[in-house]
Amino acid sequence: MAEKNLAPLSEADGRRLLAEAQKFRAKAYAPYSQYQVGAALLTKSGRIYGGCNIENASYGACICAERVAVARAVADGEREFVALAVVADGPEPGSPCGICRQFMAEFAPRLTLIMANLEGKTRWGSLEQYLPYAFSKDYLEVEEAE
Ligand code: THU
Repeated sequence: MAEKNLAPLSEADGRRLLAEAQKFRAKAYAPYSQYQVGAALLTKSGRIYGGCNIENASYGACICAERVAVARAVADGEREFVALAVVADGPEPGSPCGICRQFMAEFAPRLTLIMANLEGKTRWGSLEQYLPYAFSKDYLEVEEAE
């Protein structure tokens, strides 16, 4: 199941992260799509931040579970991330959307990604693999971000 040459993350940690993501999925507010998503982000310091999707009657204002997890971590002063797990109910493991991939790449371009559905179908990979040549601050002529 676990692919080789990814950022170091034990299978046990991966499973723990998936279990957390599943817990947060129960908090999803998804009355429009009925597609509930949970995410869990492991920081380098060993903390786990969970997120769920939060929808809105103005559909464009919806936010994905992954970005909620990352935003919670950043707001708590964390910027170094090891892995993110995402869980959704569907035939295939939940897969982060393009905006979320970009959002995660800002802080952790080599993040390990673990995706799963409720039937236990999983996919392990790296963000680099799912968002090759990600746009980043390296392309901008700005000072290093604080
Ligand atoms: N969604 C997520 O939360 N994460 C994903 O990885 C894909 C999509 C949410 C957004 C929206 O609330 C619902 O799933 C359907 O698109």
